[in-house]
Amino acid sequence: VKIDGPLYSGKAKDVLMTDDPEIVAVRFRDDITAGDGEKKDTLEMKGYYNSVISAKIFEVLEEAGVPTQYLELPEPGCMLARKLDMIPIEVILRNIAAGSIVRRFPFTEGQEFRPPIIQMDYKSDEHGDPMLNEDIILALGIATRDEISEIRRMTFKINDVLVEFFREKGIILPDFKLEFGRDSSGRIRLGDEVSPDTCRLWDMETGKPLDKDIFRRGEEGVVSAYRRVAEMILDREDTE
Ligand code: C5P
Repeated sequence: VKIDGPLYSGKAKDVLMTDDPEIVAVRFRDDITAGDGEKKDTLEMKGYYNSVISAKIFEVLEEAGVPTQYLELPEPGCMLARKLDMIPIEVILRNIAAGSIVRRFPFTEGQEFRPPIIQMDYKSDEHGDPMLNEDIILALGIATRDEISEIRRMTFKINDVLVEFFREKGIILPDFKLEFGRDSSGRIRLGDEVSPDTCRLWDMETGKPLDKDIFRRGEEGVVSAYRRVAEMILDREDTE
């Protein structure tokens, strides 16, 4: 396909139109933000690593029967994807307590959730991404009851696949954020990205984070951690 003009720009990615109305190009930028965009930086190669990691995860999920937006990664940094009608919900799954849930509720950092917790936040910078419940989702008209249960089912499935995938690579998956959309036939597919920007990933040997928490804490070594994740989960030739 031929890549045309911009369709949408987010905090870390651009979505571009192509000459095929069903296909978009997703460009992973080196921009990184935290705390609703309060903390910002540009880290060389961050987009590169997030794109190759996301592509690999989408491939693993498709192989496990999870429908995603992913089509191909013709070059690192730029992914071809099915155009989706995105649902403005940040679907967060938590296996281990960390981050905002420990600040907002009396949970202990590192405590395991069995079964895992699914939390849905309204994706709205203007409103500060407030937590949703099913009644609010229905009242907002952003998803139907059937879509909510399909999203929950898919999220648990994705968790089963990814916990096992990362475990085999020496990585613990405490939590992650997903976004879903509808394809042209109305089917729910996983969209956006799955990367160290959107997941907590802990090195199994050291217990140290290999994800955006390094940036959130203002520490060095963000890109080298992301490169490490890429090396741990990809076959060698993919990271070069
Ligand atoms: O900040 P919090 O602890 O709620 O984040 C839970 C998970 O969701 C983390 O993996 C975080 O990276 C991800 N997340 C995200 N985008 C947001 C909020 C959270 O990717 N806007």
